[in-house]
Amino acid sequence: MFTIENLNGESIGGINLNSIDERNGTFSIGIVIDKQYRGKGYGTRAMKILLKYAFFERRLNKFNDYVLEGNEVSAKMMKKLGCVQEGIRRQVVYINGQYLDFILFGLTKDEFIEKQKVD
Ligand SMILES: CC(C)(COP(=O)(O)OP(=O)(O)OC[C@H]1O[C@@H](n2cnc3c(N)ncnc32)[C@H](O)[C@@H]1OP(=O)(O)O)[C@@H](O)C(=O)NCCC(=O)NCCS
Repeated sequence: MFTIENLNGESIGGINLNSIDERNGTFSIGIVIDKQYRGKGYGTRAMKILLKYAFFERRLNKFNDYVLEGNEVSAKMMKKLGCVQEGIRRQVVYINGQYLDFILFGLTKDEFIEKQKVD
């Protein structure tokens, strides 16, 4: 788990590389920004830094993740990062009397380079 800090050195959240599969080059990312710091661009920025680390330092190839149905901010962030919606796993979580879907997102290293204009 990496701590996310703002430019004042205050801890504002955490981010982690998960489910690393070295053989196939796949991984996912867990991220939480503290409530009072959300909506200021920190999440997107931290994701870009960790994606860059995963693709170029760890030499992984494919980011796979899912967003819980209704988590619009997270879905917006995934799309902003260039992720492609790959599918829906239906009714996998039961919360507050409702069965909710997982929206699957993915991003290859090549797509990241192309969409983020990374060298
Ligand atoms: C999801 C999360 C990591 C995003 O981090 P963040 O710093 O809040 O997101 P950003 O500020 O980078 O914003 C990402 C996009 O969502 C939009 N957004 C942010 N807050 C929003 C809100 N309250 N309502 C609508 N849109 C919002 C932003 O405007 C931005 O899109 P834009 O630049 O095109 O306008 C953060 O909200 C969080 O920790 N949520 C709880 C945990 C979670 O859901 N983790 C992810 C699980 S997959």
